[in-house]
Amino acid sequence: MVSDRQNIEKGSDAEFFADMRNTVDAPGATDHVATDDDDVIRELGPGLVHSLFSAIKTVQVHDLGNRATQRSLTELQEHLRTLFALDSVVSLRVSPDYIHLNDVRLNIESQSYGPFTYVMEGVRERDVETIELYPEVNADECGIFLKEFFGEIPDDDVFDTVETRLSSAGVVNIKIVQWVDRERHLQAQTDEKRNIRKESTQVFFRTVLLMGEVLRGIEQRRVLRVKKAERLTQQMVDIIQTDETILLGLTSIRNFDEYTFTHSVNVCILSMLIADRLQLYKSDIARLGVAALLHDIGKTYVPQSILNKPSKLDGRDWELMKYHTFFGVKELSRIKAPREIIDGLFVALQHHVHFNGDGYPQKSDGWDLRLFSRIVTVADYYDAMTTPRIYKMDPVYPDRALRFVLSKSGQIFDPLIAKVFIQAMGLYPIGTVVELDTAERGVVVKQNEASRFIHRPMVTPVLPDGTFSAGVEPLDLSERNRNGRGFRRSIVGTIYDEVVEYEKADFFMKE
Ligand SMILES: [Fe+2]
Ligand SMILES: [Fe+2]
Repeated sequence: MVSDRQNIEKGSDAEFFADMRNTVDAPGATDHVATDDDDVIRELGPGLVHSLFSAIKTVQVHDLGNRATQRSLTELQEHLRTLFALDSVVSLRVSPDYIHLNDVRLNIESQSYGPFTYVMEGVRERDVETIELYPEVNADECGIFLKEFFGEIPDDDVFDTVETRLSSAGVVNIKIVQWVDRERHLQAQTDEKRNIRKESTQVFFRTVLLMGEVLRGIEQRRVLRVKKAERLTQQMVDIIQTDETILLGLTSIRNFDEYTFTHSVNVCILSMLIADRLQLYKSDIARLGVAALLHDIGKTYVPQSILNKPSKLDGRDWELMKYHTFFGVKELSRIKAPREIIDGLFVALQHHVHFNGDGYPQKSDGWDLRLFSRIVTVADYYDAMTTPRIYKMDPVYPDRALRFVLSKSGQIFDPLIAKVFIQAMGLYPIGTVVELDTAERGVVVKQNEASRFIHRPMVTPVLPDGTFSAGVEPLDLSERNRNGRGFRRSIVGTIYDEVVEYEKADFFMKE
């Protein structure tokens, strides 16, 4: 079933991407997000595979002392030298369809298809998954290795025989890793992923629960549980610094009933993500998290009839709504832990003050707009915009919300923070539902590791009935067509579909 509210927004995506890429790549942009080395490896990779291929071919025909052999080994050695400048080990790992050089997956261009396939199959036929080369390796040792490794394949115990052959030939600076090790490694990775998934879901819902208690508790004038909030945000920083994918997926789930609670938690996570990318200290990130959780605490003083009004607020109602910033300060001042809550006081007061001084309350000359407040403003706007509300049933799509953040950079938002936020979220944030040019639909589950493919994330396909499963391998939108020209799938627009939104909750929460 496809919801009748399904709405496909197309249009000037090309401009948007160009615009965004200019911003992201602009000189002076913070440099800790882009993985420049990965891009270099991707550039160098095909050259290495080609020279490896021709060296294998040459050593099969000629002796090691032959001039042609020496030439191809020297060329191979030059490629290796460039790679050793980046890392102390060069590792070539094959998976069924790809070659990974130092864990960076190489794109197979059409003209490289032959050499890539030859190397991949040759390695796999010998039960080998990874070849590791160490800096001490020289051209002669490379030659001996290639001759022994790519020599005749024995009938049984392929790996052991090849390994023995190599050590008897005196190869010490090139190591081979058996295929089976990879499986064990993958299992360990899967276990770790499962743990992070579980931890992310637990900490998210514990925090939502706590916010429920805090906000209801305040209505009954109970003491705020800052210590518990601190523990939860510390746990969240650990997750963000390991793998924030699931936490971000959870913030993309839209739940009408508990808006105030989930909004606080979402703003907390998004703010901490920005702070992490700004490379703040871990303890500061956690403190910001607590402040962000409590940013709208003053709303408990605003009557429900105003908070849930289905139409735009005007006159007295709007004035009262704006007062939630002062009410927040008032509420937080009651807490008997001034040191822990001082950031919260400022964030509660300042999160609607714009970077240029507009917004509310009127900025006073007596105080500065603090870093934490500027961070929370970005996170708060983004989450509020992308969430459907009683008075705004159709939310802004995540990519459009990011475009808004970009367009108001320097006015509402601190330009550096806006830029860092967009870099951290990708052009299509995790959880965005997209339509592809193949008429398929998908949910963004991971950003592409290569910064130049910021507009080509990994998406899990959505079936026609709106369901999708964590067991299905995500599609990599940077995958090229078979002929190497163009891409297999591209995003044509973002979608809002209630069924998919509902399924998303299940998807990101499943263990
Ligand atoms: Fe607010
Ligand atoms: Fe808010």
